[in-house]
Amino acid sequence: MADIAPTRIRPAETAAPPAVSVVVPTRNEAGNVRPLVDRLRAAFGSTPTEIVFVDDSDDDTPAAIAGTGARLVHRPAGQRAGGLGGAVVAGFRAATAPWVVVMDGDLQHPPETVPDLLAAGEVDNADAVVASRYRGAGSAGGLSGRFRRLVSRATGALAKLVFPLRLRGVTDPMSGFFAVRRDAVPPDALRPDGYKILLEVLVRGRIGRVVEVPYTFRSRLAGESKASLREGLRFGRHLLTLRLSRPRIAGFALAGASGIAVNSGALWLFALGLPYLVAAVLAVQVAIGWNFLIIDRLVMPPGRRTRLRRFGRFLLLNNTLTPIHVGLLYAMVTYGGLHYLAANAIAIMVVFAVRYLATSRWVYGE
Ligand code: GDD
Ligand code: MN
Repeated sequence: MADIAPTRIRPAETAAPPAVSVVVPTRNEAGNVRPLVDRLRAAFGSTPTEIVFVDDSDDDTPAAIAGTGARLVHRPAGQRAGGLGGAVVAGFRAATAPWVVVMDGDLQHPPETVPDLLAAGEVDNADAVVASRYRGAGSAGGLSGRFRRLVSRATGALAKLVFPLRLRGVTDPMSGFFAVRRDAVPPDALRPDGYKILLEVLVRGRIGRVVEVPYTFRSRLAGESKASLREGLRFGRHLLTLRLSRPRIAGFALAGASGIAVNSGALWLFALGLPYLVAAVLAVQVAIGWNFLIIDRLVMPPGRRTRLRRFGRFLLLNNTLTPIHVGLLYAMVTYGGLHYLAANAIAIMVVFAVRYLATSRWVYGE
């Protein structure tokens, strides 16, 4: 009796939990949506899949998406933080399957390659699989114009120069086409800034093994590219931000080191008219503000607290450290005979270690 179970026929995309979530960022791609969804469904066959469009369009792309039955996250004007990368992270938040595939919505990334990415991920036990134009049989054919090709190669080489270890074995770090295990990309750990979301994922995600699968980058089906000089400059900023934040202690050290100059400058200024201990307390406040600016904007992922709350905690923490700082300063000047500027620099370094640990755990931790 127990082996007689009712037969259920389930449409692939609705009933069974999806094995893969395909996240597609779109901005004005109305003409591409339907062919993309059709080809994805054909490529997957009976594998339960969810397709999540994260759309920043001003045209009728949302209507085209609605017509396909795929999921739609529409970000209205004014809520499009992070641009293309921000849209992908919104897709990570919405995705429910253990694997997430990210691909463009203009069919430059062939849907037929998606099952190969997933197979490679499982077979090689990888956390991320990059579809590469520059490996094996891959090709950048559809990258229009010599200039775009040169830019693609040059920015890829630059990224590898800046992250030689993390990008070892990755031939196409600029790819917008990849698969990643969802638990390797906690959305709160990511700070996307424009196009280069793969870089963000590889540097800030919990990624161990990365493998690549070659593919041919096709020509756009309909519409036009949204890449621009502005996006190129954004990439430079993104790369710098990423480098400063990894390893984080380097970013803290940089913030702290520049803080010494800020603190000393402020101390010198305040000491013109005030006793040096009072001046030191004020100078520390200026340095705290400076440190917060650097750490919050460039080093730490924002986590769950609002910026105001983060600053509140940072201020409280650092002012708890201020009496310690000033006590050390006083002891070194009074009993050690040091010049107050030298003693101040040493006090900053001692307090730095404590600040680093407490900031990562208490200000930015869960
Ligand atoms: N949601 C959202 N928001 N989507 C965006 C935005 C945005 O601000 N900007 C672009 N997109 C979408 C486009 O609609 C398209 O689906 C995809 O992101 C890629 O944009 P394109 O404008 O077509 O970029 P591309 O073809 O010049 O370059 C792409 O392919 C290269 C090769 O993989 C990008 O993915 C590059 O990062 C990649 O190197
Ligand atoms: Mn494109």
